[in-house]
Amino acid sequence: MQTIRIEHVTKRFGQLEVLSDIDFTIEKGEFAAIVGPSGCGKSTVLRMIAGLETASDGKVLANGNPIGKPDPQRVLIFQEHALYPWRTVEENVGFGLELAKVPAKERRERVGEVLDKVGLSGFQNYYPAQLSGGMKQRASIARALVMNPEVLLLDEPYGALDAITRLTMQNELIKLWRGSGKTVLLITHDIDEAVYLADTIYVMSPRPGRIISKVHADMPRPRNRNSAEFVKLREQIMGHLDIGTYTI
Ligand SMILES: Nc1ncnc2c1ncn2[C@@H]1O[C@H](COP(=O)(O)OP(=O)(O)OP(=O)(O)O)[C@@H](O)[C@H]1O
Ligand SMILES: [Mg+2]
Repeated sequence: MQTIRIEHVTKRFGQLEVLSDIDFTIEKGEFAAIVGPSGCGKSTVLRMIAGLETASDGKVLANGNPIGKPDPQRVLIFQEHALYPWRTVEENVGFGLELAKVPAKERRERVGEVLDKVGLSGFQNYYPAQLSGGMKQRASIARALVMNPEVLLLDEPYGALDAITRLTMQNELIKLWRGSGKTVLLITHDIDEAVYLADTIYVMSPRPGRIISKVHADMPRPRNRNSAEFVKLREQIMGHLDIGTYTI
């Protein structure tokens, strides 16, 4: 179980300040989401927690210890799926288990279970090129889930999915997370998705990204997207993002 702490983090790429004094904590077992405009540094935050990027100033901590490198307990699902084209679905999803020297029989069982969860059973022997865009994305989600990590870092995982699959996957994610003790940080452009899924939603400003608001969603689950409270939170977040409206 892991608490993730981002302590006064600033990130620069050369002269470009991408993140400015970001400070927040995701408690053990909490489901947090970040919404914010394109280019504000959301993926960079995730990459730092995944150990793929370091802070220019400030600290990135897991249970109080600096995160220095990638760790199989903290898995990042990328914005673009990244499957090996020469491996089948089963071989792609089982790759991490193979590296961890999990025996073939157990590997097949665990891969089978997660493929079932993401609706891909029967496609074990397909190659990525033989899958639809949404199926590829589900295979890449399966590849992370099969490792059973303590921390799940999701970068727009459902962006490429059709609306119906997206709703199904959101429910699957909640099922998987509830009672698991997993700490989740989800990046999404979809405000509804954030309010439907997360306990806490951080709203970021345009670059250099700052946290401009922390919104608590403590509605019981499953959440009703049409409830007064849901609508109110959605509007509150849209207000922070300053998207505005137009009149005819
Ligand atoms: N490795 C890098 N080298 C230089 N600049 C980078 C690097 N990675 C990201 N950036 C810059 O940091 C800024 C934030 O990028 P990031 O990918 O974190 O944004 P984002 O909020 O995830 O955007 P989107 O919503 O479009 O995915 C961008 O201006 C980008 O050009
Ligand atoms: Mg991004």
